Amino acid sequence: MPISQELSDAQCEERIIAAKAKLGKRLVILGHHYQREEVFKHADYAGDSLKLSRQATQSGAEYIIFCGVHFMAEVADILSTPEQIAILPDLAAGCSMADMANLDKVEQAWQELSTMLNPDESVTPVTYINSAANLKAFCGQHGGIVCTSSNAKKVLEWSFNQREKVLFFPDQHLGRNTAYAMGIPLEEMVIWDFDQPNGGLTKQEIQATKIILWDGFCSVHQQFQPEHIDQYRATYPEGKVISHPEAPFEVCQKSDVVGSTEVIIQTVKKSPVGSRWLVGTEVNLVDRLAKQSKVEGKFVHYMAPVVCMCSTMYRIDPQHLLWVLENLVAGNVVNQIKVDPQDAEQAKLALERMLVVSS
Ligand code: 13P
Ligand code: SF4
Repeated sequence: MPISQELSDAQCEERIIAAKAKLGKRLVILGHHYQREEVFKHADYAGDSLKLSRQATQSGAEYIIFCGVHFMAEVADILSTPEQIAILPDLAAGCSMADMANLDKVEQAWQELSTMLNPDESVTPVTYINSAANLKAFCGQHGGIVCTSSNAKKVLEWSFNQREKVLFFPDQHLGRNTAYAMGIPLEEMVIWDFDQPNGGLTKQEIQATKIILWDGFCSVHQQFQPEHIDQYRATYPEGKVISHPEAPFEVCQKSDVVGSTEVIIQTVKKSPVGSRWLVGTEVNLVDRLAKQSKVEGKFVHYMAPVVCMCSTMYRIDPQHLLWVLENLVAGNVVNQIKVDPQDAEQAKLALERMLVVSS
Protein backbone atom coordinates (compact mmCIF):
# COMPACT_ATOMS: atom_id res chain seq x y z
CA MET A 1 0.00 0.00 0.00
CA PRO A 2 1.71 3.26 -1.11
CA ILE A 3 1.85 6.50 0.91
CA SER A 4 -0.99 8.77 -0.27
CA GLN A 5 0.91 12.08 -0.34
CA GLU A 6 -1.71 13.58 -2.63
CA LEU A 7 -4.43 13.28 0.05
CA SER A 8 -5.22 16.51 1.88
CA ASP A 9 -4.85 16.64 5.67
CA ALA A 10 -8.67 16.74 5.96
CA GLN A 11 -9.06 13.61 3.82
CA CYS A 12 -6.42 11.88 5.91
CA GLU A 13 -8.18 12.83 9.12
CA GLU A 14 -11.37 10.94 8.28
CA ARG A 15 -9.45 7.84 7.23
CA ILE A 16 -7.15 7.96 10.28
CA ILE A 17 -10.20 8.03 12.57
CA ALA A 18 -11.73 5.09 10.68
CA ALA A 19 -8.53 3.01 10.78
CA LYS A 20 -8.03 3.75 14.49
CA ALA A 21 -11.58 2.61 15.18
CA LYS A 22 -10.96 -0.66 13.33
CA LEU A 23 -7.78 -1.36 15.31
CA GLY A 24 -9.42 -0.46 18.64
CA LYS A 25 -7.51 -1.56 21.75
CA ARG A 26 -4.88 -3.33 19.63
CA LEU A 27 -3.35 0.09 19.01
CA VAL A 28 -1.99 2.98 21.03
CA ILE A 29 -0.69 6.23 19.52
CA LEU A 30 1.87 8.18 21.56
CA GLY A 31 2.43 11.82 20.59
CA HIS A 32 5.28 14.11 21.64
CA HIS A 33 4.38 17.74 22.40
CA TYR A 34 6.37 18.95 19.37
CA GLN A 35 4.13 17.16 16.89
CA ARG A 36 2.12 19.29 14.52
CA GLU A 37 -1.55 19.65 15.43
CA GLU A 38 -2.89 17.52 12.54
CA VAL A 39 -0.98 14.54 13.96
CA PHE A 40 -1.06 15.43 17.66
CA LYS A 41 -4.87 15.36 17.76
CA HIS A 42 -4.82 11.61 17.04
CA ALA A 43 -2.55 10.72 19.97
CA ASP A 44 -4.08 8.60 22.73
CA TYR A 45 -1.38 9.88 25.09
CA ALA A 46 0.65 13.05 24.78
CA GLY A 47 3.71 13.91 26.83
CA ASP A 48 7.40 14.62 27.19
CA SER A 49 10.04 11.95 26.74
CA LEU A 50 9.75 10.65 30.31
CA LYS A 51 5.97 10.48 30.37
CA LEU A 52 5.86 8.70 27.02
CA SER A 53 8.58 6.22 28.08
CA ARG A 54 6.47 5.30 31.09
CA GLN A 55 3.42 5.04 28.86
CA ALA A 56 5.30 2.61 26.61
CA THR A 57 5.88 0.32 29.62
CA GLN A 58 2.22 0.47 30.63
CA SER A 59 0.52 0.06 27.30
CA GLY A 60 -0.93 -3.37 26.69
CA ALA A 61 -1.53 -2.62 23.01
CA GLU A 62 -0.16 -4.87 20.30
CA TYR A 63 0.97 -1.88 18.20
CA ILE A 64 2.61 1.28 19.59
CA ILE A 65 2.75 4.01 16.97
CA PHE A 66 5.20 6.66 18.13
CA CYS A 67 4.56 10.12 16.71
CA GLY A 68 7.91 11.54 17.71
CA VAL A 69 11.47 10.81 16.63
CA HIS A 70 13.56 7.68 16.14
CA PHE A 71 15.14 7.40 19.61
CA MET A 72 11.66 7.62 21.21
CA ALA A 73 10.37 4.68 19.15
CA GLU A 74 13.51 2.74 20.11
CA VAL A 75 12.74 3.37 23.79
CA ALA A 76 9.16 2.16 23.24
CA ASP A 77 10.52 -1.04 21.66
CA ILE A 78 13.04 -1.61 24.47
CA LEU A 79 10.55 -1.01 27.31
CA SER A 80 7.59 -2.86 25.83
CA THR A 81 7.13 -6.64 25.80
CA PRO A 82 8.67 -8.74 22.99
CA GLU A 83 5.18 -9.28 21.51
CA GLN A 84 4.49 -5.56 21.16
CA ILE A 85 5.48 -3.76 17.98
CA ALA A 86 6.84 -0.19 17.95
CA ILE A 87 6.28 1.82 14.77
CA LEU A 88 7.66 5.18 13.61
CA PRO A 89 5.50 6.60 10.79
CA ASP A 90 8.50 8.11 8.94
CA LEU A 91 11.91 6.47 9.39
CA ALA A 92 13.62 9.74 8.47
CA ALA A 93 12.34 11.35 11.67
CA GLY A 94 15.63 11.41 13.57
CA CYS A 95 17.10 13.89 16.06
CA SER A 96 20.10 15.94 14.92
CA MET A 97 21.34 16.27 18.48
CA ALA A 98 21.18 12.50 19.05
CA ASP A 99 23.32 12.09 15.90
CA MET A 100 26.09 14.21 17.45
CA ALA A 101 27.21 11.23 19.54
CA ASN A 102 27.80 7.73 18.24
CA LEU A 103 29.21 4.53 19.72
CA ASP A 104 32.62 4.81 18.01
CA LYS A 105 33.19 8.31 19.38
CA VAL A 106 31.96 7.46 22.87
CA GLU A 107 34.07 4.27 23.03
CA GLN A 108 37.05 6.28 21.83
CA ALA A 109 36.41 8.87 24.56
CA TRP A 110 36.20 6.09 27.20
CA GLN A 111 39.42 4.55 25.96
CA GLU A 112 41.20 7.93 25.96
CA LEU A 113 39.91 8.64 29.47
CA SER A 114 41.33 5.30 30.58
CA THR A 115 44.86 6.53 29.79
CA MET A 116 44.37 9.24 32.44
CA LEU A 117 42.10 7.62 35.04
CA ASN A 118 40.09 4.44 35.53
CA PRO A 119 36.71 5.47 34.07
CA ASP A 120 34.91 2.30 35.13
CA GLU A 121 35.69 3.27 38.73
CA SER A 122 35.59 7.05 38.61
CA VAL A 123 33.22 8.16 35.79
CA THR A 124 29.47 7.49 35.47
CA PRO A 125 28.41 7.67 31.81
CA VAL A 126 25.06 9.45 31.49
CA THR A 127 23.24 9.62 28.19
CA TYR A 128 20.34 11.94 27.51
CA ILE A 129 17.40 9.90 26.22
CA ASN A 130 17.96 11.76 22.92
CA SER A 131 20.56 9.20 21.82
CA ALA A 132 20.78 5.94 19.88
CA ALA A 133 19.95 2.66 21.64
CA ASN A 134 23.57 1.45 21.46
CA LEU A 135 24.66 4.47 23.54
CA LYS A 136 22.07 3.60 26.17
CA ALA A 137 23.49 0.07 26.02
CA PHE A 138 26.99 1.50 26.56
CA CYS A 139 25.72 3.22 29.71
CA GLY A 140 24.01 0.02 30.86
CA GLN A 141 27.26 -1.91 30.45
CA HIS A 142 29.45 0.66 32.20
CA GLY A 143 27.35 1.26 35.32
CA GLY A 144 25.69 4.31 33.77
CA ILE A 145 22.20 5.58 33.27
CA VAL A 146 19.81 7.46 30.96
CA CYS A 147 18.19 10.80 31.78
CA THR A 148 15.45 12.95 30.30
CA SER A 149 15.05 16.69 30.60
CA SER A 150 12.61 16.20 33.49
CA ASN A 151 14.73 13.91 35.68
CA ALA A 152 18.28 15.07 34.86
CA LYS A 153 18.87 16.45 38.39
CA LYS A 154 17.85 13.23 40.15
CA VAL A 155 19.87 11.20 37.65
CA LEU A 156 22.99 13.34 38.16
CA GLU A 157 22.62 13.07 41.95
CA TRP A 158 22.46 9.29 41.57
CA SER A 159 25.45 9.33 39.20
CA PHE A 160 27.66 11.34 41.55
CA ASN A 161 26.73 8.96 44.36
CA GLN A 162 28.12 6.09 42.27
CA ARG A 163 31.35 7.70 41.06
CA GLU A 164 33.13 11.05 41.48
CA LYS A 165 32.80 12.25 37.85
CA VAL A 166 30.22 12.15 35.05
CA LEU A 167 30.62 11.90 31.28
CA PHE A 168 27.41 13.47 29.93
CA PHE A 169 26.34 13.12 26.29
CA PRO A 170 25.17 14.27 23.81
CA ASP A 171 23.64 17.60 25.03
CA GLN A 172 26.13 19.95 26.67
CA HIS A 173 23.36 22.43 27.59
CA LEU A 174 21.19 20.02 29.54
CA GLY A 175 24.32 18.77 31.32
CA ARG A 176 25.62 22.26 32.14
CA ASN A 177 22.27 23.77 33.13
CA THR A 178 21.45 20.85 35.41
CA ALA A 179 24.88 20.54 37.02
CA TYR A 180 25.04 24.30 37.65
CA ALA A 181 21.59 24.26 39.28
CA MET A 182 22.93 21.52 41.58
CA GLY A 183 25.74 23.80 42.72
CA ILE A 184 28.59 22.60 40.49
CA PRO A 185 30.54 25.69 39.34
CA LEU A 186 31.29 26.23 35.63
CA GLU A 187 35.03 25.89 36.43
CA GLU A 188 34.39 22.23 37.32
CA MET A 189 32.90 21.47 33.89
CA VAL A 190 34.80 20.84 30.65
CA ILE A 191 33.69 20.33 27.06
CA TRP A 192 34.73 17.12 25.31
CA ASP A 193 35.41 18.02 21.67
CA PHE A 194 34.83 14.63 20.04
CA ASP A 195 36.87 15.60 16.96
CA GLN A 196 40.06 16.25 18.99
CA PRO A 197 42.41 13.70 20.57
CA ASN A 198 41.56 13.43 24.31
CA GLY A 199 38.58 15.68 23.64
CA GLY A 200 40.99 18.59 23.26
CA LEU A 201 41.71 18.45 27.02
CA THR A 202 44.83 18.02 29.13
CA LYS A 203 45.24 15.32 31.75
CA GLN A 204 45.14 18.01 34.47
CA GLU A 205 41.87 19.44 33.14
CA ILE A 206 40.26 16.01 33.09
CA GLN A 207 41.50 15.10 36.56
CA ALA A 208 40.28 18.40 38.02
CA THR A 209 36.79 18.32 36.44
CA LYS A 210 33.54 17.09 37.94
CA ILE A 211 31.54 16.74 34.73
CA ILE A 212 32.70 16.20 31.14
CA LEU A 213 30.13 17.62 28.72
CA TRP A 214 29.92 16.24 25.18
CA ASP A 215 30.09 18.98 22.57
CA GLY A 216 26.53 18.37 21.31
CA PHE A 217 23.51 20.66 21.15
CA CYS A 218 20.00 21.02 19.77
CA SER A 219 19.96 23.34 16.76
CA VAL A 220 16.36 24.33 17.56
CA HIS A 221 17.00 25.41 21.18
CA GLN A 222 20.40 26.91 20.35
CA GLN A 223 18.55 29.71 18.52
CA PHE A 224 17.14 31.21 21.72
CA GLN A 225 19.33 34.07 22.94
CA PRO A 226 19.48 36.16 26.16
CA GLU A 227 18.71 39.32 24.13
CA HIS A 228 15.28 37.86 23.30
CA ILE A 229 14.55 37.78 27.02
CA ASP A 230 15.93 41.31 27.58
CA GLN A 231 13.68 42.71 24.82
CA TYR A 232 10.60 40.99 26.22
CA ARG A 233 11.31 42.13 29.79
CA ALA A 234 11.73 45.72 28.58
CA THR A 235 8.21 45.57 27.09
CA TYR A 236 6.56 43.37 29.73
CA PRO A 237 8.37 43.90 33.05
CA GLU A 238 5.70 41.84 34.84
CA GLY A 239 5.99 38.93 32.39
CA LYS A 240 7.58 35.57 33.24
CA VAL A 241 10.05 33.49 31.20
CA ILE A 242 10.18 29.70 30.93
CA SER A 243 12.75 27.73 28.92
CA HIS A 244 13.64 24.16 28.06
CA PRO A 245 17.00 23.04 29.54
CA GLU A 246 18.34 22.35 26.03
CA ALA A 247 18.53 26.16 25.66
CA PRO A 248 21.92 27.85 26.21
CA PHE A 249 23.18 28.57 29.73
CA GLU A 250 22.67 32.38 29.52
CA VAL A 251 19.04 31.87 28.44
CA CYS A 252 18.31 29.47 31.30
CA GLN A 253 20.02 31.81 33.77
CA LYS A 254 17.71 34.64 32.71
CA SER A 255 14.58 32.45 32.85
CA ASP A 256 12.21 32.29 35.83
CA VAL A 257 11.55 28.59 35.27
CA VAL A 258 13.54 25.91 33.40
CA GLY A 259 11.88 22.60 32.64
CA SER A 260 10.91 19.86 30.23
CA THR A 261 8.09 20.24 27.72
CA GLU A 262 5.66 18.79 30.25
CA VAL A 263 6.85 21.18 32.98
CA ILE A 264 6.46 24.13 30.58
CA ILE A 265 2.87 23.18 29.79
CA GLN A 266 1.86 22.46 33.38
CA THR A 267 3.51 25.64 34.72
CA VAL A 268 1.67 27.87 32.25
CA LYS A 269 -1.60 25.97 32.81
CA LYS A 270 -1.37 26.41 36.58
CA SER A 271 -0.47 30.11 36.43
CA PRO A 272 -3.20 32.62 37.37
CA VAL A 273 -5.48 34.30 34.83
CA GLY A 274 -3.76 37.34 33.30
CA SER A 275 -0.26 35.74 33.43
CA ARG A 276 2.15 36.41 30.59
CA TRP A 277 4.87 33.97 29.53
CA LEU A 278 7.79 34.03 27.14
CA VAL A 279 8.45 30.41 26.18
CA GLY A 280 11.76 29.05 24.88
CA THR A 281 11.01 25.75 23.21
CA GLU A 282 9.83 24.32 19.87
CA VAL A 283 7.21 26.29 17.96
CA ASN A 284 4.47 23.63 17.62
CA LEU A 285 4.25 23.29 21.40
CA VAL A 286 4.29 27.07 21.91
CA ASP A 287 1.61 27.71 19.26
CA ARG A 288 -0.72 25.12 20.82
CA LEU A 289 -0.07 26.45 24.32
CA ALA A 290 -0.67 30.03 23.16
CA LYS A 291 -4.07 29.09 21.69
CA GLN A 292 -5.16 27.17 24.80
CA SER A 293 -3.88 29.91 27.12
CA LYS A 294 -5.67 32.68 25.25
CA VAL A 295 -8.99 30.99 25.99
CA GLU A 296 -7.99 30.91 29.67
CA GLY A 297 -7.06 34.63 29.68
CA LYS A 298 -3.27 34.14 29.65
CA PHE A 299 -0.68 35.33 27.17
CA VAL A 300 2.05 33.16 25.68
CA HIS A 301 4.85 34.58 23.51
CA TYR A 302 7.37 32.70 21.43
CA MET A 303 10.96 33.45 22.42
CA ALA A 304 12.76 33.81 19.09
CA PRO A 305 12.04 36.30 16.30
CA VAL A 306 12.51 33.46 13.79
CA VAL A 307 10.52 30.22 13.78
CA CYS A 308 12.50 27.42 15.46
CA MET A 309 10.84 24.22 14.40
CA CYS A 310 12.06 20.68 14.89
CA SER A 311 12.13 19.70 11.22
CA THR A 312 12.58 16.00 11.98
CA MET A 313 9.52 15.86 14.25
CA TYR A 314 7.69 17.62 11.44
CA ARG A 315 8.36 14.68 9.12
CA ILE A 316 5.56 12.82 10.86
CA ASP A 317 2.60 14.04 8.82
CA PRO A 318 -1.01 12.80 8.59
CA GLN A 319 -0.17 11.04 5.29
CA HIS A 320 2.51 8.86 6.94
CA LEU A 321 0.32 8.23 9.97
CA LEU A 322 -2.53 7.11 7.71
CA TRP A 323 -0.18 4.91 5.71
CA VAL A 324 1.04 2.95 8.77
CA LEU A 325 -2.50 2.68 10.15
CA GLU A 326 -4.11 1.40 6.95
CA ASN A 327 -1.30 -1.10 6.53
CA LEU A 328 -1.98 -2.40 10.04
CA VAL A 329 -5.67 -2.73 9.20
CA ALA A 330 -4.63 -4.75 6.12
CA GLY A 331 -2.40 -6.94 8.30
CA ASN A 332 0.97 -5.41 7.27
CA VAL A 333 3.45 -3.94 9.72
CA VAL A 334 5.46 -1.14 8.12
CA ASN A 335 8.24 0.95 9.68
CA GLN A 336 8.71 -1.26 12.70
CA ILE A 337 11.54 -0.12 15.01
CA LYS A 338 13.37 -3.15 16.35
CA VAL A 339 16.46 -2.65 18.48
CA ASP A 340 19.20 -5.30 18.31
CA PRO A 341 18.36 -7.69 21.21
CA GLN A 342 21.81 -7.44 22.87
CA ASP A 343 21.72 -3.65 22.77
CA ALA A 344 18.12 -3.71 23.98
CA GLU A 345 19.05 -5.79 27.04
CA GLN A 346 21.88 -3.46 28.11
CA ALA A 347 19.94 -0.30 27.22
CA LYS A 348 17.01 -1.54 29.30
CA LEU A 349 19.31 -1.73 32.34
CA ALA A 350 20.21 1.96 31.95
CA LEU A 351 16.59 2.95 31.28
CA GLU A 352 15.29 0.98 34.26
CA ARG A 353 17.86 2.63 36.52
CA MET A 354 16.46 5.95 35.31
CA LEU A 355 12.85 4.92 35.93
CA VAL A 356 13.69 3.83 39.48
CA VAL A 357 15.68 7.00 40.23
CA SER A 358 12.93 9.27 38.90
CA SER A 359 9.95 7.42 40.41
P1 13P B 1 11.27 16.53 26.57
O1 13P B 1 11.99 15.57 27.46
O2 13P B 1 10.93 17.79 27.29
O3 13P B 1 10.14 15.88 25.91
O4 13P B 1 12.27 17.01 25.44
C1 13P B 1 12.64 16.17 24.38
C2 13P B 1 13.25 16.91 23.30
O5 13P B 1 13.70 16.37 22.34
C3 13P B 1 13.33 18.35 23.44
O6 13P B 1 13.98 18.86 22.34
FE1 SF4 C 1 16.23 16.59 18.74
FE2 SF4 C 1 16.21 19.23 19.09
FE3 SF4 C 1 14.26 18.04 17.69
FE4 SF4 C 1 14.40 17.73 20.34
S1 SF4 C 1 14.00 19.62 19.22
S2 SF4 C 1 14.03 16.11 18.84
S3 SF4 C 1 16.64 17.68 20.62
S4 SF4 C 1 16.47 18.14 17.14
